[in-house]
Amino acid sequence: MNPFHYENGILHAEEIDLPSLAEKYGTPCYVYSEAALIESYRAYSEAFSSREHLVCYAVKANSNLAILNLFARLGCGFDIVSGGELERVLAAGGDPDKVVFSGVGKRADEIRMALEAGILCFNVESEAELYRIMEVARQAGKKANISFRVNPNVDAGTHPYISTGLRQNKFGIPHDEALRLYRIAHQSEHLHILGIDCHIGSQLTEIPPFVEALEKILLLVAALEKEGIHLSHIDVGGGVGIRYSDENPPEIGEYAKALLEKLEGRKQKILLEPGRSLVGNAGILLTRIEYLKHGEEKNFAIVDCAMNDLMRPALYDAHHDIVAVKQREGKMEIYEVVGPVCETGDFLGRERSLVAAQGDLLAILSAGAYGMSMSSNYNTRPRAAEILVSGKTAHLVRERESVGHLIALERIP
Ligand code: LLP
Repeated sequence: MNPFHYENGILHAEEIDLPSLAEKYGTPCYVYSEAALIESYRAYSEAFSSREHLVCYAVKANSNLAILNLFARLGCGFDIVSGGELERVLAAGGDPDKVVFSGVGKRADEIRMALEAGILCFNVESEAELYRIMEVARQAGKKANISFRVNPNVDAGTHPYISTGLRQNKFGIPHDEALRLYRIAHQSEHLHILGIDCHIGSQLTEIPPFVEALEKILLLVAALEKEGIHLSHIDVGGGVGIRYSDENPPEIGEYAKALLEKLEGRKQKILLEPGRSLVGNAGILLTRIEYLKHGEEKNFAIVDCAMNDLMRPALYDAHHDIVAVKQREGKMEIYEVVGPVCETGDFLGRERSLVAAQGDLLAILSAGAYGMSMSSNYNTRPRAAEILVSGKTAHLVRERESVGHLIALERIP
């Protein structure tokens, strides 16, 4: 199924044409397809259906309540990295019993809140954090469920900013420290060891690094068993990469098959923390061309969205395909697609061939993951609206911000 497709030369989201959405809700706006969200969730749950498993959606990829609510209704769990994300999951009707809490800097108040809510497990990322969780659990008179996030020192072959499983990264506990820390946790009356986990990076387009990381984790699982420490789950971390343009990421089925082969004979439940692959290609950013500017060396299409709306190109030099919403006849030209923000790094796409005119709508594709969730108000730009399309129905799932929202917390002394 292609949730975003042309009909009579006009780009549609499911059964709604994008110009009518732009008309009704204005631009820029994020548009998500409910069918695409459901399909990607099902691809994971079916691929792992032969085993007891739990998909914990990485909330950071897109934390809109409507999306969290949809996943919760499908039976999905959540991977969170802050107390704020926990509050979102709860507000969206998510089940705390299906929440894992990752992240290297959990504050005591966040740990307390998660304990009170009764989350499934803390993914512990350092020895100091282990002691803090122990102490907070003691004060609360509770037992905290934990898993250690082990850094397997595997090269994910992805952008250095989103590679997390190398020795030099800040994430997880070193592989050769793991046994010692598990022993400490095993002794504590305030901790209950539940599992082990790893996450080596995002936008992985090859299967071997996932398998290599899992192999290293399984060595530890075996070593722990010898010491009488039995785990009830193995969390394999984030999901596969997506196709932005010409990448060839593995199918979810292939990825699952490779992992399930390694896990054969193991009785542990499998946890997964995919983010990007659940939402990335289920969303686009709809924007309008404000001006065409023919510079001395380059042509610019200046659009009404900017790096504050979609930061990935500016931050990672990431590529998103950009297409005209209405296909038109005319001269194809090469444009730098840029926003109104006062920075040369404010670009959405470089050297794009477009037949374009002032006032035309463009769609920036594959923008469902790490788009809105990384947006900011830089240049006092209110954040875009978000729309969830389901067949012929469009739901406004986040209103466009106003400047009033932006200045509401500020005070002139
Ligand atoms: N689990 C943990 C502990 C993570 O840190 C992440 C992502 C995930 C799961 C989800 O990984 P995914 O399935 O999405 O690959 N802002 C960057 C991506 C940062 C990813 C950080 N961690 C981007 O726009 O490419």
